[in-house]
Amino acid sequence: MNHYNISNPTDYQQAYKKSVEDPKDFWEKIAKENFVWKKQWESICEHDFKEAKFTWFKGAKLNITENCLDRHLATKGEQAAIIFEPNDPKEDAQHISFNELHKRVCKMANVLKEQGVQKGDRVILYLPMIPELAVSVLACARIGAVHSVVFAGFSSTALASRINDCGAKIVITADGGFRGAKTISLKTIVDDALKETPAITKVLVVKRTSQTIEMIEGRDVFLQPLLDAASEQFEAEVMDAEDPLFILYTSGSTGKPKGMMHTTAGYMVYTAYTFKNVFNYNEGDVYWCTADIGWITGHSYIVYGPLANGATTIMFEGIPSYPDCGRFWEVVEKHKVNQFYTAPTAIRSLAKESLALVTKYDLSSLKVIGSVGEPINEEAWHWYDDNIGKNNCPLVDTWWQTETGGILISPLPGVTQTTPTYASFPLPGIQPCLMDADKKELADATAEGALCIKHPWPSMARTIWGNHKRYIDTYFSAFAGKYFTGDGAQRDENGYRITGRMDDVIIVSGHNLGTAPIEDAINEHKDVAESAIVGYPHDIKGNALYGYVILKETDNSPEQVKIEINQLISNQVGPIAKLNIIQFVPGLPKTRSGKIMRRILRKIACNEMDSFGDISTLLNPEIVEDVVKGKL
Ligand code: WTA
Repeated sequence: MNHYNISNPTDYQQAYKKSVEDPKDFWEKIAKENFVWKKQWESICEHDFKEAKFTWFKGAKLNITENCLDRHLATKGEQAAIIFEPNDPKEDAQHISFNELHKRVCKMANVLKEQGVQKGDRVILYLPMIPELAVSVLACARIGAVHSVVFAGFSSTALASRINDCGAKIVITADGGFRGAKTISLKTIVDDALKETPAITKVLVVKRTSQTIEMIEGRDVFLQPLLDAASEQFEAEVMDAEDPLFILYTSGSTGKPKGMMHTTAGYMVYTAYTFKNVFNYNEGDVYWCTADIGWITGHSYIVYGPLANGATTIMFEGIPSYPDCGRFWEVVEKHKVNQFYTAPTAIRSLAKESLALVTKYDLSSLKVIGSVGEPINEEAWHWYDDNIGKNNCPLVDTWWQTETGGILISPLPGVTQTTPTYASFPLPGIQPCLMDADKKELADATAEGALCIKHPWPSMARTIWGNHKRYIDTYFSAFAGKYFTGDGAQRDENGYRITGRMDDVIIVSGHNLGTAPIEDAINEHKDVAESAIVGYPHDIKGNALYGYVILKETDNSPEQVKIEINQLISNQVGPIAKLNIIQFVPGLPKTRSGKIMRRILRKIACNEMDSFGDISTLLNPEIVEDVVKGKL
């Protein structure tokens, strides 16, 4: 039996059971019957949790773009693959058919080849949400180059560190990008970053805003003339199942961002399978995920998952509040969107606006609505369900991570139950478990603990680029024989409910932020001696950042220092990491080994000051009272 289409509860139960009892056969059938391969695999899955070595579809040969493009040409060449909805609603949307997308990808692949890009090379994409971004992603995959998309909201410092970490030689960018009423000077940011990246020899530039930019002779080239001259044919490179497909950076608790490396076959199979079932995508549907391709959600559920299913996927360049807060709903009506996938932070911000901005539009095309990126609180869940889904569209609260490649826990629309705030049940192939502090698995039906996954799945990241030890240490050492997600969760008869991060990653407006790079930026201020940041609950962003800063002696006004601190953060990490509150403190609570006790700082920021738990292990317990007194 092929379990590719799950259409009722029995299907789900059977598929799930099969996937646990005989995962190899389960995935083999799905892979064989739903994808095109140039050569079959020798084995389905080999794994070693201790060494964190995972191999899926060993020895198989394929090119993911043939699965996303070529194989659809005969049956749906003229169907829209991508609908591009520009930032400015007055600019026409573009319907890019599979035929057209195929041509554009081949042209781009030819250009990249001419510019010296080869199989295995890393290519940095620093682009706004315009079709060239999806085209570049696929062009890299077509020639076997490894793409690393850097979200265009990141600063030049963040961009430079990613370029250097993955050893890229080429960057594809744009002159600028439109974001609501603003124009972002992307090329200027790239120029700044490239002062620190000696290996970059080529910058290919898309014209989007036509603003004046500097072009460095010999290094910077406009893309369009090259594309115009390029051939529309490009034979896809034969890739091994385990060849790297992309690197995507995500924040860690400590140190610099981690370049999560994903490979080809397992990623393709799993993202396609989950796209089909989590969104119940059917032929002819129009699907819209509002994420940016700079995040994993955009990789898996704007580009690869939808296109592998021959779906029509919308790429939206703009923001939810431009020209007004009805934009999402206007676009849903305009393109008759059937599946809509967004983030809780967007829902919370739009829920604050007048309902007239929603009711103005006809949302009756919607069949499934989804949420991703952080826990969706009950109020936001109900607002979304009532006003957007009209209590008539299953709301899929999808839990997953950059590291997992695809959705692991989620309701299946019309198949499994939805419960507000519950990501609910694992998808076939996923075996979650909860662990206690003694590293024992919690076997009871009702439990709360550290969320782990105890069997490999096809789309898991294979390593951290250039640092396999960090990969093992971060994900496979806390609980032997299991992948540790870093999240805490509860479980009961409604399934899994994610409670949030257990480490120092803070999720602000759905973006993962590590404390270390932000504290590094703060500490660069000449008046700052030391700092610590924590998250605290925020109505719209989910979490906002609270910074505790120890100042040196200075003549500058504290208000001025605060402004400069946020400027530094903006430059080094990006505007999304700015602090909402900065409190100057005389000291920070530390353990005897010198580690900052963030738990205490978090409680203070969250106004939970009645109990701090055991503070006897602190080196300087008296400081806690001072910090509490100065709470802002
Ligand atoms: C959080 C995004 C609760 C979680 C795809 C995870 C969620 C981190 C949910 C990964 C959800 C994501 N409910 N929390 N439905 N989805 N998270 O790597 O803490 O950007 O570990 O991947 O987001 O964020 P990332």
